[in-house]
Amino acid sequence: MNELIAPLFVREGRNIHQEIPSMPGQYQYSVDQALETVRRWSGKGLRAVLLFGIPESKDPTGSGAWDDNAAVQRLSGAIKETMNDMLVITDTCLCEYTDHGHCGPVVHRPDGQADVDNDAALELLGKVATSQARSGADIVAPSAMMDGQVSAIRKELDEAGFQTTAIMSYAVKFASGFYAPFRDAAESPPAFGDRRTYQMDFRTTGQAIMEAAGDVAEGADIIMVKPAAAYLDVIAHVRRNFEAPLAAYHVSGEYSMIKAAVREGWLDERVVAMEVTTAIKRAGADLIITYFAEQLADWLGE
Ligand code: PBG
Repeated sequence: MNELIAPLFVREGRNIHQEIPSMPGQYQYSVDQALETVRRWSGKGLRAVLLFGIPESKDPTGSGAWDDNAAVQRLSGAIKETMNDMLVITDTCLCEYTDHGHCGPVVHRPDGQADVDNDAALELLGKVATSQARSGADIVAPSAMMDGQVSAIRKELDEAGFQTTAIMSYAVKFASGFYAPFRDAAESPPAFGDRRTYQMDFRTTGQAIMEAAGDVAEGADIIMVKPAAAYLDVIAHVRRNFEAPLAAYHVSGEYSMIKAAVREGWLDERVVAMEVTTAIKRAGADLIITYFAEQLADWLGE
């Protein structure tokens, strides 16, 4: 149970508790409702949440991401004030906050091609991380896959006095079709192009080691492999090569696929969710980010 991390989507407004159509059993919550949910999870023995925010309005730089008054920041503060044994992890990215849905600001090259500006993104990600740390986040989780993001964030955090805020880096993140339901949930599909220029090609594993080694050298405290169930070999491979705590993210599509089959009566939810989660653990993950967290807590509690 201690290894489970529950993702949660929080948005502006009040009294919102809205199911995400492509992710049955998952909701977008306003801060008040999210806090109630986290309190329920805490009662069931869950110890960590991963927060994603959906802003009221988006802009080219994603400035809502470093607004100290945004939903993620308010929720982080409220959780830390009321539940001292709940670990708060915040997704540190811009794609939910940019109007074009990319993970950094976009530049238009002379040849007309649009591209994400890596170095401009680093500066903004540093601001996002410090805002999140200020609000109470214990761990920031950079997921933008920009080169140098871990060291840039570490430096900003240290300079702002947050030496003890940890970094869980999405070190090994593949460009995956399994993120599709998440992009509904976070309302963040890229408006043009895709994320393949900054996420990894799923045909290779060699790059996984390089990316993980790079992030560890830059100061990552926890490294992550994502997705999880279709990448058990990568989890095992990273486990064998690194001492750092290893997290694996059983992502939206991997979850929704099971939910859909369960709805049809084709799979037994409890058996399959337990089986897949156990497989991820068996492959070597110390921490598992999963949308099944609450159900697993219920089942493990029985
Ligand atoms: C990017 C981010 C994504 C996910 C987590 N962080 C989407 C993406 O890279 O396109 C996906 C998680 C999931 O599918 O559950 N900020």
